[in-house]
Amino acid sequence: MKCVKVPKKKAESVKKKLIESNNFNFEYIPLVENDYVYFPIKFKTDLPVVEKEFKKIEKKPTSLKEVLKNKVPEDLIPKGFEVVGDIAIIEIPEEIKNYESLIGKTLLSLHKNIKVVAKKASHYEGQFRTRKLKIIAGENRKETIHKENNVRLKLNPETCYFSPRLSTERRRIIDLIQPNEIILVMFSGVGPYPITIAKNTQAKEIIGVEINPDAHKYAEENLKLNKVKNVKLYNGDVNEVVPKLNKKFDRILMPLPKTAEEFLPLALEVSHTGTIIHMYDFLHEKDIPDKVIEKVKNVIPKAKILNIVKCGQYSPGKFRVCIDFSV
Ligand SMILES: C[S@@+](CC[C@H](N)C(=O)[O-])C[C@H]1O[C@@H](n2cnc3c(N)ncnc32)[C@H](O)[C@@H]1O
Repeated sequence: MKCVKVPKKKAESVKKKLIESNNFNFEYIPLVENDYVYFPIKFKTDLPVVEKEFKKIEKKPTSLKEVLKNKVPEDLIPKGFEVVGDIAIIEIPEEIKNYESLIGKTLLSLHKNIKVVAKKASHYEGQFRTRKLKIIAGENRKETIHKENNVRLKLNPETCYFSPRLSTERRRIIDLIQPNEIILVMFSGVGPYPITIAKNTQAKEIIGVEINPDAHKYAEENLKLNKVKNVKLYNGDVNEVVPKLNKKFDRILMPLPKTAEEFLPLALEVSHTGTIIHMYDFLHEKDIPDKVIEKVKNVIPKAKILNIVKCGQYSPGKFRVCIDFSV
């Protein structure tokens, strides 16, 4: 293979020139012999050229498909996975369940930041919106600490709902918050919305209400972990807790897409003129935005729609949507 022979002393400057003129061949490992360095090149140059043998740089595989393509039916190899803290959560088709341990171990070897691999063992279900997880590789634990938007959230992704995919949506919400707002987060889970708001805005007070005792326990722990002082959390049903708060809110978040509209009368009860409400919903593409506007207007005819955003895909053709409106 053609290469340039350079005295060691001049190696750095010649390498720079070759790179600048796009004539440095990155596919091979340069050779060092005695007082000379040999740089493989791509095309002719004015520098002294000689012939040498070079070793090719081995490209490390970066995806499951690259590593497993001859071991697992290629069209069934999972394309993606979710990462909560140091736990990778992956969906494994039934047809390749015999390969789950191999898939798990491969993920661990590809991503050094992952310590546990768990497969989804059910869909999100029940009032707590949780799903079963089965550990298929790595450490035997389901608790982790997830970092996003300047906050740390401790949680067990099996006993508590949490989606790292919503971090961009949480960022969108915090950018809307004005100083001194009093905010209600219905369905607060392990605390991602209240804590992200407390850490990143000048909101005065944030109240979170969550019915799942385990999620509430983590949320309380997360307040301490993030040293936030202006968040108050309640464990219970919003229908029972919120009316007893005796408060009106400047902003209300309703992150329970499956049934949030059922709680609109409650949100209205604790709103004042100008309160902004963010309600989440799951909608088919064809129903965006009409259906969610209709759901809001049915309960609050005077609602002024401010924005409707798609904030993630739920299933093929179905999206998570947030409608922002004022009352
Ligand atoms: C989709 S999760 C959202 C959790 C959290 N806000 C987040 O983004 O990670 C909905 C949460 O609402 C809680 N929930 C459901 N019904 C509730 C109710 N009536 N009152 C309070 N919380 C409720 C569930 O336990 C679950 O944690």
